Amino acid sequence: MSFSGYLSRGIKACKMADTFHVVYLYIFFMAVIAVVKSDCLCNDYPDVSTKAYIFETPTLPQEACCMPTVGNGYLATTVYSKVIHVNSIYNGRYGDSHRAKIPSTADIHIDSKDKIFNKESFLLNVINGTFYHRITMETSNIEHRIYAHQNWTRLLVNEILISRKPGTSDEITLSLTHKFNPKSEDVRLKVTAPKTKGDPWFSSGGTTTSETPTSATSALYMYWDDVPRSLTLASGVDSQVWTFLSAVSESKSEAWQSLRAGWDERDAGMLFHTHENAWQHKWMDGKIDLDGTNLKLAKAIYGSMYYITSSLPPQGGDVHFPFHFYGINPGDLAHGGSGPDSYKGHIFWDQETWMFPPILMFHPDLALEMLKSRSYHLQAARDNAAKNGYRGAQYPWEMAFTGVEVCPAAPYPTNELHISGDIAFAVQQYLWAANDTTFLESNDGFETIKSIAEFWESKVEYNQTLKAYTINNIMPPDEYHQSVNNSVYTNTIAQISLRLPAYAASLINKSVPKKWAEIADEMVIPFDHRLQYHPEFEGYIPGTFVKQADAILLGYPLMVNMTADTRRNDLEIYETFEGINVTDPDGPAMTWGMFAIGWFELKNLTKAEKHFARSYANIQQPFQVWTETATGAGAVNFVTGMGGFLQAVVFGYGGMRLQKNSLRVDITLPPDTDTITFRGLNYLGNSLCISGKNDSVDVVILDKPDLHFQADLQLVQGSHVYPLYLKTTVTVPRLDFSIEPTSPQ
Ligand SMILES: *[C@@H]1O[C@H](CO)[C@@H](O)[C@H](O)[C@H]1NC(C)=O
Ligand SMILES: *[C@@H]1O[C@H](CO)[C@@H](O)[C@H](O)[C@H]1NC(C)=O
Ligand SMILES: *[C@@H]1O[C@H](CO)[C@@H](O)[C@H](O)[C@H]1NC(C)=O
Ligand SMILES: *[C@@H]1O[C@H](CO)[C@@H](O)[C@H](O)[C@H]1NC(C)=O
Ligand SMILES: *[C@@H]1O[C@H](CO)[C@@H](O)[C@H](O)[C@H]1NC(C)=O
Ligand SMILES: *[C@@H]1O[C@H](CO)[C@@H](O)[C@H](O)[C@H]1NC(C)=O
Ligand SMILES: *[C@@H]1O[C@H](CO)[C@@H](O)[C@H](O)[C@H]1NC(C)=O
Ligand SMILES: *[C@@H]1O[C@H](CO)[C@@H](O)[C@H](O)[C@H]1NC(C)=O
Ligand SMILES: *[C@@H]1O[C@H](CO)[C@@H](O)[C@H](O)[C@H]1NC(C)=O
Ligand SMILES: *[C@@H]1O[C@H](CO)[C@@H](O)[C@H](O)[C@H]1NC(C)=O
Repeated sequence: MSFSGYLSRGIKACKMADTFHVVYLYIFFMAVIAVVKSDCLCNDYPDVSTKAYIFETPTLPQEACCMPTVGNGYLATTVYSKVIHVNSIYNGRYGDSHRAKIPSTADIHIDSKDKIFNKESFLLNVINGTFYHRITMETSNIEHRIYAHQNWTRLLVNEILISRKPGTSDEITLSLTHKFNPKSEDVRLKVTAPKTKGDPWFSSGGTTTSETPTSATSALYMYWDDVPRSLTLASGVDSQVWTFLSAVSESKSEAWQSLRAGWDERDAGMLFHTHENAWQHKWMDGKIDLDGTNLKLAKAIYGSMYYITSSLPPQGGDVHFPFHFYGINPGDLAHGGSGPDSYKGHIFWDQETWMFPPILMFHPDLALEMLKSRSYHLQAARDNAAKNGYRGAQYPWEMAFTGVEVCPAAPYPTNELHISGDIAFAVQQYLWAANDTTFLESNDGFETIKSIAEFWESKVEYNQTLKAYTINNIMPPDEYHQSVNNSVYTNTIAQISLRLPAYAASLINKSVPKKWAEIADEMVIPFDHRLQYHPEFEGYIPGTFVKQADAILLGYPLMVNMTADTRRNDLEIYETFEGINVTDPDGPAMTWGMFAIGWFELKNLTKAEKHFARSYANIQQPFQVWTETATGAGAVNFVTGMGGFLQAVVFGYGGMRLQKNSLRVDITLPPDTDTITFRGLNYLGNSLCISGKNDSVDVVILDKPDLHFQADLQLVQGSHVYPLYLKTTVTVPRLDFSIEPTSPQ
């Protein structure tokens, strides 16, 4: 396979190594494995539900890749799979480090072999974060629920409810299959069977291989309820619920206490309630609703929000057993084992650039958890810089458990340096959105952004001819170019990183070296005066094929000040040049979301909607699982794409921009939509609801949650200024406006 063919198959750097693996294994095992299907296409199983938040099918897909996932940021599983993942449990050395495949103790099926089911359905209800298997029989209704508990994050729950239909009295028996195989290539487990009826099973052990020679392996403890081969509803009993808990933790006492707490809530009939309440609260604090008939889009939005937030800690954290969050990977927490196309659960720029922005708008507390996953590994990033001959902190292209570089292939670790800048940019957006300085002061945030600036200071070179700072030998986001000079995206994000510490310092009465801002001011930002556009790097020739959104990211998310003509030229030149596609049509979904946002900005709705449609063509029915490409290839369940898509909704249709001292809003209604409502948007300590209708927009402060910082806000539209008061709706014409603090300093 040619090098360029090889490249164009992979969406992301280290994917290439994985892809190679698949091919190799395929050839090797062809005789053994009858069917190796690399693409995931699930559209034979249509979603029959007319509700935006329910994804339902009468026939369960045969392909594991089509199955939904349940998770709570600590643990997650693909429904009916053999594996559980824990956010902090990786196994394997360096580039092999991946989310450990923990044998699932929660894989329970209701058997259909000896029963006649009149009607059967499988559904994911994202509002209460639960997967259901529902069965209607002659004499009874059966409901099997599977969920990762939101309030007790160490618990995976199976509940089976049998309810008798009126007028029947026979005994009703249901057979169960519980598949548990303690063998795993990643963890060694010693299993202890219950001594007496009612006792749980127990296993203890841990991972086999630490990430580095000096880091520790992870311990693992599991308790789970015994699962009988059948359940019987006695004659004369109307209904009964059986609950089967699995408690998983790195700490034995946490696992045990979680199991006990689960039993207590089960006995009080509260276990499912506390779970679904937590999910419902989370949705009330952040969701996007469409009124109208665009069910496809409404479902895509709910699905994307669900899968991203179920890979993040619960809102408010786990009050019982707080845990450190290690970051969100491109395939969601339930994916990322050692298999191909799942990126091993590594944390890439995807976290900051793709998943973070929409989460920040609705859940700044969860956005903060993502930032803490980086500041926690500041020392490893400093060591990485030193190892490569730089000062400050150089974040690895791929990070897992210890924060060392775990990308298995060159030259990404040495050349794709924008990652550190992407982290700094996310911090800037967090400060602009929440003005929360506790991250700076209490979570090493200030040290992190200073160390990133110091890294760029040591990386730039002063060019005497240009009288400016250059950054050489870089791989930009467009990975088809592995070593270029002055990548426009990289230089711009370095410039932002070098300016950020002074802003942060002003918030906490600290000072930083003036040199950083000076370097930023004298940074080369390639610009072609003749064509009035931004070349992707020094020497870029228009028409050169690129992998994904790169130079166009200057307009959004980076919000570089440029004329409308330049913005349009960038969008046009990187789409097609002289009739040839410039950006790879098989590039990742996020690319089209970024083009869409650009055209929304320029008010070209035709262009915007054409790109927008491509930004969510990767969804697989019936459960709204995403594949990395629209043809079903690549990583499953591609939350990175969901992040890019949600950005196109919030920053494209919503026209929102977070800036220093203001939140700009400029709403366009999606097709077949009467109202688009952004509920629980957070800005400077206020939870807002913004509802765009055909001619008007309603804005109201719903709540002033107990956050670290709170501002009084006003809405400014043209020359009109409307103060915003709690629970008092302000209605303005559907034109652009901004929300600002009443007295910015
Ligand atoms: C949770 O979802 C199920 C399935 O749609 C639904 O029947 C139930 O009413 C939901 N619970 C609440 C509290 O909405
Ligand atoms: C979760 O648990 C905490 C502490 O026990 C409790 O205060 C909170 O109400 C629970 N949340 C829900 C949604 O039940
Ligand atoms: C300085 O910039 C000029 C113009 O781009 C370039 O030709 C030259 O190679 C650069 N010098 C160094 C040392 O990078
Ligand atoms: C980048 O700049 C360095 C230093 O001037 C030079 O040696 C190298 O050839 C340049 N690379 C490209 C791709 O122009
Ligand atoms: C800010 O810091 C300076 C010196 O570090 C100190 O003199 C001054 O009192 C501080 N101001 C505030 C408001 O804390
Ligand atoms: C953006 O550039 C224009 C002129 O090109 C200038 O008038 C304006 O002040 C700039 N805005 C900012 C925020 O720098
Ligand atoms: C460019 O890409 C689009 C979208 O995939 C495709 O329909 C079109 O045929 C491509 N054009 C050329 C000239 O390859
Ligand atoms: C949108 O862009 C297309 C292609 O550049 C152009 O043909 C069309 O006239 C534009 N529409 C508007 C409303 O500007
Ligand atoms: C929406 O607004 C447009 C322009 O203001 C108007 O022509 C159209 O009739 C409105 N549609 C509805 C359904 O109100
Ligand atoms: C952010 O907080 C600082 C005090 O910590 C205050 O001086 C500043 O005005 C606030 N910024 C905004 C935009 O409210």
